Amino acid sequence: MLKRVWGPAMTALILATSPAMAAPVAHGIWLGNSDGAAKRPPMGWNSWNAFRTEVDEAKVMGAAQAMVDDGLAKLGYVYVNLDDGWWLRRRQSDGRMIIRTRIFPSAATADGTTSFKPFTQRLHAMGLKAGIYTDVGRNACSQAYDLKSPNLPEGSTAERQVGLDGHVKQDIDLYFKDWGFNYLKVDACGLADFVPGSKLVTENGYAGLAPEIDRGALNRTDNAKVEARYAAVATALKAANPDGDYVFSICDWGMANVRAWGKDVGSSWRTSSDITPNWSSMLHNYDSAAKRALYAGPGHWNDPDILYIGAGDFDTAHLTEARTHFTLWAMLSAPLLISYDLRQAPPELLAIWKNSDLIAVDQDPAGNQAIVAYDSDDAQILVKTMADHHKVVALFNRGAAPVKVTLLASQLKLRGDASVHLTDLWSKATQDFTGETTIELAPHETRVFAAQGARELANGVYLSEIPGSINVADDGVGTPELDPQIHRMIDPWGGTRASSRPQYAGWGGAQADATPYGETLEIGGQAFESGIGVLGNSLLQVKNDGYATLRATVGVDDSSGNRSHPVRFTIYADGKPVATTPDLKFGDKPFELTANIAGRHVVELVAATNTVADETPVVVTWGAARLEK
Ligand code: GLA
Repeated sequence: MLKRVWGPAMTALILATSPAMAAPVAHGIWLGNSDGAAKRPPMGWNSWNAFRTEVDEAKVMGAAQAMVDDGLAKLGYVYVNLDDGWWLRRRQSDGRMIIRTRIFPSAATADGTTSFKPFTQRLHAMGLKAGIYTDVGRNACSQAYDLKSPNLPEGSTAERQVGLDGHVKQDIDLYFKDWGFNYLKVDACGLADFVPGSKLVTENGYAGLAPEIDRGALNRTDNAKVEARYAAVATALKAANPDGDYVFSICDWGMANVRAWGKDVGSSWRTSSDITPNWSSMLHNYDSAAKRALYAGPGHWNDPDILYIGAGDFDTAHLTEARTHFTLWAMLSAPLLISYDLRQAPPELLAIWKNSDLIAVDQDPAGNQAIVAYDSDDAQILVKTMADHHKVVALFNRGAAPVKVTLLASQLKLRGDASVHLTDLWSKATQDFTGETTIELAPHETRVFAAQGARELANGVYLSEIPGSINVADDGVGTPELDPQIHRMIDPWGGTRASSRPQYAGWGGAQADATPYGETLEIGGQAFESGIGVLGNSLLQVKNDGYATLRATVGVDDSSGNRSHPVRFTIYADGKPVATTPDLKFGDKPFELTANIAGRHVVELVAATNTVADETPVVVTWGAARLEK
């Protein structure tokens, strides 16, 4: 991760511990990105899945009009996002981007300069917002993957360099200050696919760029350089939008370890390769975000990609699958971007996008992405804690056969001796249970319920219930180049791009109610149903919204591969140490830690150890970590 530069007011405190111990730094200030307008996951429409590069003004304005007429806009779908295909060339006299007016006629100007201002003004007048697309390198994805498109940039090598490379400030000022856009999606093919000397580059007359992202090998990807490029875009966006009315969507398909740093830089970051209208692709993209709850929150969201509802395995003949796709995205607090020709949307599909109960789940202001409370190859149970602390639970059948799933009150962190009231968020039917209930799911079906009951913690909340209030400032995961152990543990999920195998980093990240490797939390033989599992040399930040005490039962986890290094746990409140443990070793009894955090805003949990970069990490557990009034 890049080192941030702190102003004088930002006092950084170096952890005081035994000299040999590495020292994550307590800051006392919240580091998760909250710049921009994505306090809730962005909702709207995107042209890509519906039209690829064959986008045009009539199609986009048709979608926009339908969003208003069909009542989607009222429900929160306000962003109308152009994807790849809008550009004609970069003018060489001054570097200004020129729009393809053949497909966007309202952009034509008498002198050929072109402007999207009339286009965004029309959208704004309809109560909508406007989004545009670019690439962080010199060239864009269509220039590598849609070579037969009629809408590729035209002209000389330089005229066809439509990406941000070398033009970050110029382009962003144009798109936001001049043209009036509100949302920017920034792709990354320019850093991956234009390999000097390759067939693509020589046959198409591109200027090659030495890849900073290697789609086939994470250890040949320059994570820091990629992050720095996106961070420069974030800086330019902030400067161009003093009113904060912008969304920054990072699109590097889960590569370059974006799943760890995206939250510091963007409003959202893609966690995987492009979704296709296939069940397996939807599963793949869902999986890429489902265990990253602690990395998302208000202002910064995991993005498993645009919705594919309306096509292929999610069309009107597959409404069970379409509802599952929508439910999962809502549970993940993912951006909800429809990508369908809305000029002819059938009522069955509109009914899915317009499920206001699920929209409220997605848009809940606490921003707590669902936690995986039960996990098997066939079925999963996802639990999301809403701002008022009631629960939403989804029971998801991943497979093609019916399956019975048993839901336990304890998975909801509700008491097993009191009645739990469930309301089905699709059928609106209600039912009650005490302790547990078994529910049958049809193939590919997801049942989703609001759940009300007596909370296990009457007077507080487990940290694993509020991932939206946690920022994993440092998850202790070394960069793959430095850390062969992590490198071997790169996510095993396959890819969808022909002749490439996407390499996703970030395995071993902090987890809610599980170790970083998905095991039960356990210290010295004592298991914990609630808690945070993370690696040594980590720093978790917690936003304190009026709680007086933080308690946790801590120690080296029994699953730790590294059994020789001691760990010291320290809790900081607004940058000052308020509780600490002695050095704890593998096999030691768990240690009860209590910290007074009354009136403090940012609480930081540091697990410091003295492993070096290429050593097997120590797995640590903040057992039953909770905030109490
Ligand atoms: C990449 C992105 C897609 C889309 C296309 C456009 O593949 O991941 O979402 O923007 O480029 O070419």
